[in-house]
Formats: sequence, structure tokens, C-alpha cells
Amino acid sequence: MSRIPVHVAFIMDGNGRWAQVRGLPRHEGHRRGAAVVKKILRIAEKNGIKYATFFAFSSENFSRPESEVSFLMNLFERFLKKYSKTLWEKEVRFRAIGNLSQLPINLQFAIEKLIQSTTCFDKFHLTIALNYGARSEVIHAIGNLLKNENVSVENLTWEDFKQYLYTKDLPDPDLIIRTSGEQRLSNFLLLQSAYAELYFTKTYWPDFNEKEFLLAIEDYGTRERRMGKINDKTND
Ligand code: IPE
Ligand code: IPE
Ligand code: MG
Repeated sequence: MSRIPVHVAFIMDGNGRWAQVRGLPRHEGHRRGAAVVKKILRIAEKNGIKYATFFAFSSENFSRPESEVSFLMNLFERFLKKYSKTLWEKEVRFRAIGNLSQLPINLQFAIEKLIQSTTCFDKFHLTIALNYGARSEVIHAIGNLLKNENVSVENLTWEDFKQYLYTKDLPDPDLIIRTSGEQRLSNFLLLQSAYAELYFTKTYWPDFNEKEFLLAIEDYGTRERRMGKINDKTND
């Protein structure tokens, strides 16, 4: 296979519609969706990807019905608890990005435990975006920046500002994959994706599989990433 992205981020969309077309409750789609995360992680590792980030719950998703929100919060907690052994065995470093302090306390504990117990690992990096929204990330970053008396706003660089984002120790995503046919970012990693390649598929997240993932990676391999520069071949 050609060029492999270092960091792939997923907007896991379409769980509800996946369930709806099957006459199932929405939460069944979420349950299936969580199982897909495990499969996709194995494929990412196998193909030499180093970082995978999954958008699991946006800040805006809190405005969904209480029953769906609480189902999801319980699902996340169960997922992390059950999956932690695998992450330790595979030496995967776990991170969570988003406003974690608004999450149920038991989920916060599960997250914190997994973050702390995997800080020494470097084989693979799994990040889950929970209660994440790029706009609130920026506001949070500016708030912390202004608290730092040593910062000189006139000389501020992107490298300085980046340190205040939830993603401070992650490389920018090279490839963002969104399932379910929607072609938008829905407030996900807006600054970090400035030069990311975007890949959209109509498949609903619970049906996303190895074949689809490899197609996306292959497509990425054909993209020319200029990052504002001139392509050498056209520069004669
Ligand atoms: C994505 O699936 C998962 C979350 C946002 C939590 P959705 O729940 O958005 O599914 P659709 O888009 O309604 O089908
Ligand atoms: C984006 O999906 C958030 C996640 C996948 C967690 P949404 O379903 O919330 O996005 P919109 O509302 O279609 O833009
Ligand atoms: Mg959706």
C-alpha cells in the first residue's frame, strides 16, 4: 500500500439511521457502533497508522433526549472498562479530548484511570472525543492563555497557541473519515484539520468495515498534499 496516514480521525455518524432502517431502537445502533471502534482500531494498527481519534459525542449532542444521552454515557463507561485490558496488553496510550468535567462522575473516573494507566505507552494512540466541540475548545484555550501572565499576545505563534488545545500532544489528523453520507465537520477538530484530507462515505458507522477503511486509506494515498506550497512537478 502507498502512503499511510499517521493520524486518522473518525466522525462516527449514522448509528441512529442504521437502527431506524432496521426497525430497531437508536441505542442498538450505538451499541453496534461501539463494537466497530474495536475492529477499526485493530485494522489501523495492522496497517501502520499510529494515531486514531474517534468523535463519540459532541458538545451539541447534549441537547438530545435525556434517555439517549444517558444510554450513551453508560455505553462509554462500559466500553472503557471492558476495553482497558486490551489497551494495556497492546500498549495503547489512551487520551480523551473535550470538556470532560461535564460528564457523569463515574465516566470521568473511568477516563482518568485509563489515561493515567497508559501514559507510558507509545505503540499506538487512541483518543476519544467526548463532549467535544471545536468552538468551546478555542474558548477554553483562550481562557487558559489569558491566565498565563508570561504569554505575550503580540508575539504569539500557532505553535504557542496549540499548547492550549485539548490536542496539544497529538499530531494534526492527516485523514478525517465521516460515515453516513453527511459532508460536514460538525464542529470537530476545526483548527487541527486545516490541512487534513477529508473522506466521506454513505455507509452508516455500524456497517463501516475493513474493506471501507482500506478504500479510504488507498484514496488518501492518491491525494497530493501541498500545504500551500507549489508542486515540484509544476515548478519547471
Ligand atoms: C453518531 O450517530 C453517534 C453520535 C452522535 C453519538 P447518530 O446518533 O448521530 O446517528 P444519526 O446521524 O442520527 O443516524
Ligand atoms: C457528529 O454527528 C458528532 C458525532 C459523530 C459524535 P452529529 O449527528 O451530531 O452531527 P450533525 O448534527 O449531523 O451535524
Ligand atoms: Mg448523526
